[in-house]
Amino acid sequence: MCGIFGYTGKRVVVETVLQGLKRLEYRGYDSAGIAGLHGDQLLFCKQVGKIDTLQERVQSEGMVLDLAIAHTRWATHGKPSDVNAHPHFDASGKLALVHNGIIENEAELKQELKKKGIAFTTDTDTEVIAKLIGWFYEGDLLRALKTALPLLKGAFALAMIHEEHPGKLIAVARQSPLLIGVGKGETFLSSDANAFASYTREVIPLSEGEVAILTASSIQIFNASLEMIEKERHELDMEIAAPTKGSFAHYTLKEIFEQPQAARNALLSHCDEEQGVAIFPEFRVMPLDAEFIQRLLIIACGTSFHAGLIASYSIEEMARIPVTVEIASEFRYKQPLILPGTLVVAISQSGETADTLAAVRLVKAQGFKVIGLCNVQGSTLAREADETIFLKAGPEVGVCSTKAFTSQLTVLTLLSLFLARYREMSREEGQRFIKELYQLPNQIQRILDQSDEIERIAKKYAHLSEVFFIGRNLMYPAALEAALKLKEISYINANAYPGGELKHGPLALISPESLLVALTAHEPTFDKIQSNIQEVKARGAAVLAICYEGEKRLEARVEDQLFIPRTRGVLTPILTTVALQLFAYYIAKERGASIDQPRNLAKSVSVE
Ligand code: G6P
Repeated sequence: MCGIFGYTGKRVVVETVLQGLKRLEYRGYDSAGIAGLHGDQLLFCKQVGKIDTLQERVQSEGMVLDLAIAHTRWATHGKPSDVNAHPHFDASGKLALVHNGIIENEAELKQELKKKGIAFTTDTDTEVIAKLIGWFYEGDLLRALKTALPLLKGAFALAMIHEEHPGKLIAVARQSPLLIGVGKGETFLSSDANAFASYTREVIPLSEGEVAILTASSIQIFNASLEMIEKERHELDMEIAAPTKGSFAHYTLKEIFEQPQAARNALLSHCDEEQGVAIFPEFRVMPLDAEFIQRLLIIACGTSFHAGLIASYSIEEMARIPVTVEIASEFRYKQPLILPGTLVVAISQSGETADTLAAVRLVKAQGFKVIGLCNVQGSTLAREADETIFLKAGPEVGVCSTKAFTSQLTVLTLLSLFLARYREMSREEGQRFIKELYQLPNQIQRILDQSDEIERIAKKYAHLSEVFFIGRNLMYPAALEAALKLKEISYINANAYPGGELKHGPLALISPESLLVALTAHEPTFDKIQSNIQEVKARGAAVLAICYEGEKRLEARVEDQLFIPRTRGVLTPILTTVALQLFAYYIAKERGASIDQPRNLAKSVSVE
């Protein structure tokens, strides 16, 4: 995690850098800092808290800089504090450095440097990098890097400045994103191209240990052996409208309400109504040879992993193709066996999750092609996957994923349709399926229209400290996602179980102070989930059931019901999710939680 932004050029440097940094705040917001050169003087300001607080201080101090680097932090080594905030410095105080990533051998290096008499003032691994480079520095920064970088273990991106090298930004990236934005007489550096996309569309991504020396008018790039290389420039084709909250209290709420449009965007140009089949026109090279696909492997983390899990049910049900879904951080350390005929799909909203990217590299190294499912154009996944399907959900700012998740589900349902039509699904059945898909945006809207009722129910349960979610079949992963949403933004201990597992342990936790949220809108397992509700009610807990409209069978048995439009089973998780996103949102609001930026979390997890 952590966001890096750097700038040199003719604009007002401090303002430009802080504006860029704000677009990276989704990557972490424990502390923020800026360092820059004014003439030959190194100036800096850093403190715990969000970028707005830093900005106020910098403005009140009237800081003026000729070029600068800045950082927004998600703490890995050392608690969030002023002292641990970036930038960090070498022993001379002339080198300032900001860092995204983790140095795995930080303890050993620190030990070595201490033996040489170097003192440390912070708990961060970043200070070790700064002190190490400083130790080797004898007037030539590149030479110092040549000795220092091979000693660092881990994945990282670095930006630095040095008092003795005015006019220069130095950047390093090893398996962590760092992109150069090439302007006219100005140069940008950022963890995410989106942060400078409103200034320039020309981008050079750094990778695999590359080093760049940047001035306002020149860019020199070196490979990991520090030999100068030429790198291609890419043209960004992402939308650049800066996201705003509009009239909504939070980005999260706005993004929940954007879901009808996001679903429309996900469906757009992906359906051939005449043939009753899904199409993927964005594929540039790779034909999706459906006949040869014998199994699917889906890799993802967090909410994207839940989307993959739900899709595994719909693909197996519709296309009768076996699907394995793996948490990327587990998969990559498993020595996985991937069988021939496997189509690999990596799902990542940001396209920057370090574990997902590492898993993709592992799969590619074994000779398999990877399809990326991603929301952010220009992201690392989009560059590294063989083909990418973009969600077109628009920027998602709230740390908890909402619209990207339902868009992922929509696209994955299209993939299920695509594969099913190559197997046993008839054209007529495909046409009927597309008709139901087209109803999704309006059905989502009907749930959003119930937000007052959902808020009323949420307020009733907002005081609880523990909530249980149950579902069966594909409503089980939908329950996992609902529980994740609630814990992420309200800090309530929320856990999800398959209905049938309650009696294997979780029932021991149920008491009259518990709330059970039962995801019942799945006809084949309705009777079974109804029995689970009875088991929980017998122990005195309250029950909120998410039901199809018109569901009368539970009326007398549960405290509350929320209704979703009746649709085909594989589409129900989308509608159930929207209702439970609102439920989580209103509980968090009632508890006064920091909804868009929950404590300890970040939107993009670029550390392993
Ligand atoms: C973080 C975010 C989650 C997200 C997960 C995976 O934990 O807070 O919302 O689901 O990363 O992110 P990705 O961008 O790979 O989908």
